[in-house]
This record gives sequence, structure tokens and C-alpha cells, in this order.
Amino acid sequence: MGQIRIRAATKRFGAVTAVDGVTLDIADGEFLVLLGPSGCGKSTLLRAIAGLAQLDEGQLELDGRDITHVPPRDRDLAMVFQSYALYPHLSVERNIGFPLRARRRPRKEIDRKVTDVAEALELTELLRRRPRELSGGQRQRVALGRALVRDPGAFLMDEPLSNLDAKLRASTRYELVELHRRLRGTFVYVTHDQVEAMTMATRIAILSGGKLEQVGTPTEVYDEPASTFVAGFLGSPPMNLIRAKVSSRGRMLFAAAPDINLPLGRIGVVPETEVVLGIRPEHLRPHDSRPGIEGIVRLVENLGAEEVAHCDVGTARVAVRGPRPLGLAPGDPVRLAVEPDHLHLFHPTTGRRLLWQDDPAPSPSPRNDATEQGVLA
Ligand SMILES: Nc1ncnc2c1ncn2[C@@H]1O[C@H](COP(=O)(O)OP(=O)(O)OP(=O)(O)O)[C@@H](O)[C@H]1O
Ligand SMILES: [Mg+2]
Repeated sequence: MGQIRIRAATKRFGAVTAVDGVTLDIADGEFLVLLGPSGCGKSTLLRAIAGLAQLDEGQLELDGRDITHVPPRDRDLAMVFQSYALYPHLSVERNIGFPLRARRRPRKEIDRKVTDVAEALELTELLRRRPRELSGGQRQRVALGRALVRDPGAFLMDEPLSNLDAKLRASTRYELVELHRRLRGTFVYVTHDQVEAMTMATRIAILSGGKLEQVGTPTEVYDEPASTFVAGFLGSPPMNLIRAKVSSRGRMLFAAAPDINLPLGRIGVVPETEVVLGIRPEHLRPHDSRPGIEGIVRLVENLGAEEVAHCDVGTARVAVRGPRPLGLAPGDPVRLAVEPDHLHLFHPTTGRRLLWQDDPAPSPSPRNDATEQGVLA
């Protein structure tokens, strides 16, 4: 079991509110990723769950038990740190077994569990070594092993892959997902890396300035970002965000900005409202017969299988992403098309997502509870 309920959690450091009224339910067996930029409060929230930081306000529950004031060692949670925090003078075997020795478990049980965990993490050959005789990835696995051996209610991990090189990161990512599948435990995983979040999470909770911006599956937060913050944080390059105005011609509505005139299809917003128009780079099609955007290519980046073209459109910079070759070169004029279904609209000041007019129920869903409805027709 490992169900975690966080209720209106707030943590301040002097004038800084590191975690600001976060309410979040983490189901048993989830791989929940806390994602956000540096300083947004991810580590503080995780440390509060672990009991390493005391909340100023709010409440924490683990499997229905109030743990808000329970000391860390009695919380049945295991934490894995970015720095590994291994004991340098102890062998791998003794590092992994440490939590069990500290709990005075029988020798036989310790040996059995350490052997099992070492096997699962492919550390058997390394059990006699000291941490300094290991690579970064191997140290990371020892740190994981030390968390695993206790069989805790949930695993809390703070950027555990950030010291690894790109290749090892990718393979360890895969190993973690496998491990999660096998253990069926609850993982709460902190990262500022959107690729880690998108590839590993069952759900992503995105934090900004200590506040929860959105919680959803990777697909939900990518396809329906609740705010310009989320839209601009996910994706590489992130969603293009352009100030525009909704105008009408006959019964048709358009989003207009310098060198942009895009039919809005079924999107319902009051004409003459200011909006922020959002378009994913991969949804822009060059060389289309019905372009809505005209610009000049400034730079083309080769990503291997794909290319990204950065274009000037009016006063905006717009990224286009597609299979290589895109057929664009710096200095070229470019005409871009996009399907109305792939347009996102956000409120110009609050940044919240605007709803479709013909949504069956314009009432906010829990996932998008902060969606702006003020400019609906
Ligand atoms: N012990 C502390 N004393 C004072 N301020 C702190 C302390 N710990 C964190 N903060 C502040 O709280 C805010 C949130 O910090 P936190 O470490 O949770 O961010 P983070 O999202 O984990 O960032 P990073 O991605 O850089 O690790 C920051 O403004 C930070 O400076
Ligand atoms: Mg941190």
C-alpha cells in the first residue's frame, strides 16, 4: 500500500513560500512525477512528504493515516537523493543492508533481501566494492537498492538520474519503469526534465512558484495544457505562444496577429478579445496550399531524424518541427498551415486555457479546475 494524500500543504522559508497550498492525491501504485523549473518547490514538497521538512500548514496522509507530525523514520517511506548519500567506508553489500541492520532485522533476512535486491538491480558482481570504486550509474543503483530493501509503502526520489550522462540516463529511465512495473509500488519522483516526466510518469504534477499548475497523464498535460506555463514548459521546442486577437468575418472567427490569420473552426470566443494563441511546432505544416501564417526562416536546426526551423512571423518567433528535410533554408519566405483542432487559446493575463464553446459541459473538470471561462461566448 502507498496511497498519499496531500491537503493544502504550505511551507515557507522566511519571505519565500516554497510550497503554496498544494492539494494532491497520489494513488497506490502510481508513478507520479513532480515537474517544474528550478526553485518551484519540488524538493521541498518531497521532503515534506518524507518528513524531512515540517509543513507550516496543511496535512499529509499515508494509507489513511495522518502522518503530518510523524517523524521520518516512522513514515514507512524510502527516499533516494540526487547525491546518492552512500556511506563511503561501507561496501555495496553493507550500504544496501544498512536500513535493515539499523532496524535490527535478523542476519538471515538481511542476507536474503540484499541478495534479491542486488540481483534485481544487477549489482551482484559489485557487492564487495566501495562506493568510490563505482560509476555514477552504479552508485545510483546502490542508492535505489538501499531504498528497495526496506520494502517501503512508497519511494520518494529527488532527481535520481541528474548525475548520469545522457546514455546512462536513458537506460536507467527504462530500468526504473521496469522496476516500477515489477514492484507495483508508489513512486513519487522529482525532476525538472520533461523527457523523464513524459516517459516515466503515470501522472505528472506540474509546479510553478510553489503552486500546482496542472495534474494529469503525460498525454493530458501535453495535449491540453491548462496554462501558458505548462504549454511553454513541455515540448521541445515548447509550444509557440503568440499574442493574437479574435476577429470575425461573417460567421467565421479568426485568430489574427501580424502575418497570422487562422480560422478558429469550432472554437468559441467572443470576437475582438485578446488571446494568447498556442501552436505546437510539430503541428505547423510548411508548403501548404492554405497557409494562415507567413514568415521568414531564420535558422534551421538538424536534430537527426527531424529538423526545427525558427521563423520570424510579424514580431513573433515561431518554431516549426518536422521530419528532415523540412525543405526550408535561412532567408526563405515560408507559409505555414495548421488545423483548427491543433490551436490552443489562453487568457492574455491569467494565462489559463480557454474552453471550447461547444464542449458538452463547460463546467470545469477536476483536471482543469482553473480553466478560464470569462471570455466564452
Ligand atoms: N532550507 C531552505 N532555506 C531557505 N530557503 C529554501 C530552503 N530550501 C528551499 N528554499 C527555497 O524554497 C524554494 C523552493 O526550493 P526547492 O529546493 O524546493 O526547489 P526545487 O523545485 O527543488 O528546485 P531545483 O530544481 O533547483 O532542485 C526556493 O526559492 C529555495 O530557494
Ligand atoms: Mg530540488
